[in-house]
Amino acid sequence: MQTQNAGIIGAGMAVPDRILTNAALAATVDTSDDWIVSRTGIRERRICSPEESCSTLGAVAARRALESACVAAQEVDLIICATATGDHLWPSTACLIQQKIGATRAAAFDLGAACSGFAYGLETGCGFIRSGGMKRVLVVGVDTLSKQVDWTDRSTCVLFGDGAGAAVLGPCGDGEGVLASCLGADGNGFDLIKLELGGTKNPITAESLADKGQYLMMRGAEVYRFAVRIMVEACETALCRAGLTFSDVDLFIPHQANLRIIEAASQRMGLPEEKVFTNVAKYGNTSAASIPMALTEAIAAGRVQRGSVLVFVGFGAGLTWGANVIRWSQDELSSPAAP
Ligand code: UT7
Repeated sequence: MQTQNAGIIGAGMAVPDRILTNAALAATVDTSDDWIVSRTGIRERRICSPEESCSTLGAVAARRALESACVAAQEVDLIICATATGDHLWPSTACLIQQKIGATRAAAFDLGAACSGFAYGLETGCGFIRSGGMKRVLVVGVDTLSKQVDWTDRSTCVLFGDGAGAAVLGPCGDGEGVLASCLGADGNGFDLIKLELGGTKNPITAESLADKGQYLMMRGAEVYRFAVRIMVEACETALCRAGLTFSDVDLFIPHQANLRIIEAASQRMGLPEEKVFTNVAKYGNTSAASIPMALTEAIAAGRVQRGSVLVFVGFGAGLTWGANVIRWSQDELSSPAAP
């Protein structure tokens, strides 16, 4: 029996209105616009208001993605929400998004693979369609790390921002859609990026709060080295599974963590600047949201056409990584996908 191909048929994004510039940050911690731009390429990031959360941003991105795919919320079979900063430990943020958009027929679950969450979610969602069981899957990548960073720690607070991106998946023709993926994990790197408190192993208590374990902690330089290596390896493996090479890639859409990481990895892949999409300058590292946000902006900028070969790659806490190779299957999305 021939397997049904699956791919992205719509995309959308949402970010909070509040912009936090490097200059504004430099007024509160010992840093400078110069340091942040030269080490990361980040110029500003978006920060949630107290009323905003993963479910509110995720629902807006989801509605925009559905609109661009001309799919009604009631047609959605499954919602996968990739997030590390969900509204609650449980129930899932996917259920809150389901309720907010009125996707009454959809099953819903969260997927925890940190910044690799969208790459994991895309392959997982396609699997449900390939198996013949589902027709419309919504994958939302959303994170609000501004609520988990220590705003007095200059080594992390300058890096992250809030945002959501979403993609609608559906069946597509032969040789189109998600052609191959490479997903991986290495729990030996568990300590390199983590949130120590708040789970069942280390619940939050008055005493434990004194050690600041409620905040994101990262060993940046080690993550940097891992990231450059794994991006190249994961993309190479996924391309090889698709029967393609780096020279076939039309647009590379990597996780937007740090411009230097993206440049180092793309150089190793032999990809020229014009084939690499970046928007890290505007949003910082939005974790699971960064790839679908970048995809949405790339579509809006006219950089994705039917037949284009796209490569996504994410990496992050776990450690986890994931790459997807896509042959774009849509002629034109029905409405502008970016806000
Ligand atoms: O989504 C996946 C998760 N994370 C990542 O992808 C992050 C990966 N890592 C990185 O992007 C980089 O390692 C960082 C941007 C986090 C740091 O850049 P770096 O070039 O590795 O700097 P460093 O950590 O080696 O620090 C160099 C210096 C240190 O000072 P000394 O010890 O040399 O005197 C830091 O204290 O820069 C200092 N520093 C800062 N200075 C001004 C660290 N943060 C800042 C800051 N402003 N914000």
